[in-house]
Amino acid sequence: MAEDNGKPYTILQGDCREVLPTLEAGSVDLIATDPPYGAGKGFAGDRNVQEAFALVTGLLPEFVRLLKPGGCLYLCCDYRLYARLELAVREVLDWQDTIIWAYRWTRFNPQTWVRSYQQILFASKGRPAYWGAPRVLSADSTRALWPPDTKLKPTPIRPGSGETVGRRSKDTETAPARNWWDDLPIVDGSFCHRNEPRQHPTQKPEKLMQRIVGASCPPGGLVLDPFLGSGTTLVAALREGRQSVGIELDPGYCEIAEARCRAELANRTERLPLEVTAP
Ligand SMILES: C[S@@+](CC[C@H](N)C(=O)[O-])C[C@H]1O[C@@H](n2cnc3c(N)ncnc32)[C@H](O)[C@@H]1O
Repeated sequence: MAEDNGKPYTILQGDCREVLPTLEAGSVDLIATDPPYGAGKGFAGDRNVQEAFALVTGLLPEFVRLLKPGGCLYLCCDYRLYARLELAVREVLDWQDTIIWAYRWTRFNPQTWVRSYQQILFASKGRPAYWGAPRVLSADSTRALWPPDTKLKPTPIRPGSGETVGRRSKDTETAPARNWWDDLPIVDGSFCHRNEPRQHPTQKPEKLMQRIVGASCPPGGLVLDPFLGSGTTLVAALREGRQSVGIELDPGYCEIAEARCRAELANRTERLPLEVTAP
C-alpha cells in the first residue's frame, strides 16, 4: 500500500475521514498520529475540543479496521482530550499504556501550574505483535536514573531469545524502556531545538516519532499517520526503515512533508558510508 513510484512513503492529500475507508483492511502495523487537540492553533479540526474529540473518536472504528491483528495505535493528546480519549480508545482497542512526554522547557505562566507534558495513548488490536523498544531508548534519561557505576541485572527481552536489557557502564542504550520520556525537547522554533526547524505550529520532534515507530512497527512494516502535518512521522519511518502512508488535509503541509521526506532520503544516501561504522 505504501509504494508510490518506488518511494517507501506515500503522502495523500485529503480528508482522512474520506481517505481511510479506501485503504485496505488489516494492512497497517502501526498508526502513529498527532490529531488536532482543539487548542485553536489555526489548522483544520483544531477550533475547539468538542470538534477535535468528535473528529478523532469518529475515526476509531476505521483505525481498528485498518490495523493488523497485534497492530498498535499511538495517539498524541494533551490535558484537553486525554481523559475522554482514553475511555473511547479502551472501548475499541486493548489499552497498553499512557506515555508521558515531559518537556524540558515551556512558556512562563504566572497564574497557574505551568503545563509541561503531553500524554501519548498506546493501545493495540489484541496483544502487540512487535516490541522493538530496546533499540530506541534514551541514553539521557537513563543516565539521570542510574549513575555510571550502577550495576543492573540483565533481564531477558523475550523468553528464550537470548537478548537481554540491563545497563552496562558504557552501554546506556540497553536499559529498560520507561513510559516517562523527559529527554525530548519540544520543537519550538527557537533555542531549544535548533537542529529541527519548525514548519508546523504543533510539530513533533523527529526523535519522539522515531522512538514510537522503532518500538511498535516491525522492520519493513507499514506506519500510517492520518494527521500528517509537516510529515514528521514519515521522516521517522524512513529513518527506521519502515514503509509509511500519511494523510493531510492542507496541501501546503503536504508539500512540506514531501520536501522533508526527499531531504531525508538524500541525506541518508550521503551519510551511508559513515553509518556503516556507527555503533
Ligand atoms: C497536530 S497537527 C500534526 C502535526 C504533525 N505531528 C507534525 O509533526 O507536523 C494535525 C494536522 O492534521 C491536519 N488535519 C486536520 N483535520 C484533518 C482531516 N480531517 N484529514 C486530514 N488531515 C487533517 C491539520 O491540517 C494538521 O496539519
